[in-house]
Amino acid sequence: MTDTTAPVAFPQSRTCPYHPPAAYDALRTERPLTRITLFDGRGAWLVSGHATARALLADPRLSSNRDRPGFPVPNRRFAGIRNRRTALLGVDDPEHRAQRRMVVGDFTLKRAVELRPRIQQIVDERLDAMIAEGPVADLVSAFALPVPSMVICALLGVPYADHDFFEAQSRRLLRGPEAADVLDARDRLETYFGELIDRKQRAPGTGLLDDLVHRQLREGDLDREGLIAMALILLVAGHETTANMISLGTFTLLQHPEKLAELRADPDLLPAAVEELMRLLSIADGMLRLAVEDIEVAGTTIRQGDGVVFATSVINRDETVYPEPDTLDWSRPARHHVAFGFGIHQCLGQNLARAELEIALHSLFARLPTLRLAAPAEEIPFKPGDTIQGMLELPVTW
Ligand code: HEM
Repeated sequence: MTDTTAPVAFPQSRTCPYHPPAAYDALRTERPLTRITLFDGRGAWLVSGHATARALLADPRLSSNRDRPGFPVPNRRFAGIRNRRTALLGVDDPEHRAQRRMVVGDFTLKRAVELRPRIQQIVDERLDAMIAEGPVADLVSAFALPVPSMVICALLGVPYADHDFFEAQSRRLLRGPEAADVLDARDRLETYFGELIDRKQRAPGTGLLDDLVHRQLREGDLDREGLIAMALILLVAGHETTANMISLGTFTLLQHPEKLAELRADPDLLPAAVEELMRLLSIADGMLRLAVEDIEVAGTTIRQGDGVVFATSVINRDETVYPEPDTLDWSRPARHHVAFGFGIHQCLGQNLARAELEIALHSLFARLPTLRLAAPAEEIPFKPGDTIQGMLELPVTW
């Protein structure tokens, strides 16, 4: 007999790529906070209520520093990665604020608007190439991955010619399969960025990394190791996440032809649709924190040393904020979702990601009005629950 009072095991894999696992239903009924069990048997708090999530994500008593003893780990693979510097996401204020200030100017809304023509050009070129070779195509390798990869390379000043290398290592970094793969991928990426930084010191190019090399290394705000850590997070976070949103967003729209028809009829709906897809898909489904002081919240005490996990897929389906939360609704105000996080670590690249998603989805469906899946939906593989959610491949035809 199943023990219905036992804490839910977290994370679990989805059975439908755009819905949380059925096992999370219990988390949805026990808002805003409940206990979960992590892979190593350790307990943690799971935040599931929208208001509580936003309050806690803005609370400095929750640390993001992965080196603190007891910091929650979502799977065996990541258990060995301590004592490696994680820029931005792995540091608390005031260090976090100083790091963010170094890069935020390149990720403003204004900068994303300026980048739109370049993004459109990249999208058009990738579609030309895919159409020339198809049909059939794997939308992940032909479109969803190369578009954000090329965009972030151009922004950072990383040679796209190295994409096979850094995409493969980013995959190993996020998905293993073993702890040794994660560490080895990290080593290789660090070596790669170290060499790139040395080259940039000798022969400056154009891009955010070039600016950082010359400005920060010269002024001493960032040492070489810190610069490598910054380059690593910007490159990995800058392509893997958006690639998953493009692939899973396309799959979801193809599974909802009536919603796709609305978008095709009125492209002005696109910004709202991107926001609603972000909410529903919640691809970064498990943000991690550690309580460094006791916190009284929602009638409960989170104790110092407790792990706290934010399940975005559950938070973004809080029915007190989003009526009929499991349905796509372009007219709902979805903007306050936490799919990009909230508080000081709220996604640095969100303006860029929104621009990429709008342009990629619009151009894809405009250029290919007959786009459809080239395999039964239930046979198309998608990513396991302990990493960023998205399609492993997406066979399409037109
Ligand atoms: C649709 C695509 C994306 C999604 C769903 C996403 C999601 C997120 C989430 C949930 C966080 C907060 C994590 C936490 O608080 O624990 C985050 C932070 C971050 N994201 Fe994104 N992201 C996306 C695209 C991007 C892009 C294009 C970049 C470009 C470089 C980027 C760079 C970052 C960085 C650097 C952080 C850490 C910020 C900090 O700690 O101050 N992301 N992202």
